Amino acid sequence: MRRAVLTAAALAGALALTGCSESGSDSGQADLSVSSPYMPQPVSADMAAGFLTIANQGGATDELTSVTSDIAGEVTMHSTVGGAMAEKTSFAIPAHGRLVFRSGGNHLMFEKLKRRPKQGQTVTVKLTFAESGPVTVEMPVKSATYNPSTGH
Ligand code: CU
Repeated sequence: MRRAVLTAAALAGALALTGCSESGSDSGQADLSVSSPYMPQPVSADMAAGFLTIANQGGATDELTSVTSDIAGEVTMHSTVGGAMAEKTSFAIPAHGRLVFRSGGNHLMFEKLKRRPKQGQTVTVKLTFAESGPVTVEMPVKSATYNPSTGH
């Protein structure tokens, strides 16, 4: 008589899960939105200006680090201080704050234009942020004298 020896494979599966709960810290991130973009129809054949507002509803600062466009060989960021403009390599968007580009103040400069934008057209602009990554904006071309504060 033969005895079958059954080997019991004991599965010692001690599933000791450590309680790793993530506390929802949604205030620790930038939350950006872009509004009121526009480009006055350029009077120059090789240069144009652009304006927009970037709001940050999040709890962390972000930074605009570069701007590119399909119509320009280069887009630079400028601030205007005391009537003189200075090129900047980045602009901060503070937590719960705003970064405003407007006529007479901070502005984008589209250089080496590949075509001359006309009123009624739209220009594609890619904004790159240090934390939030790239954001693409469709920027409408307005009249050369357009000013959003007066509506003209
Ligand atoms: Cu400028």
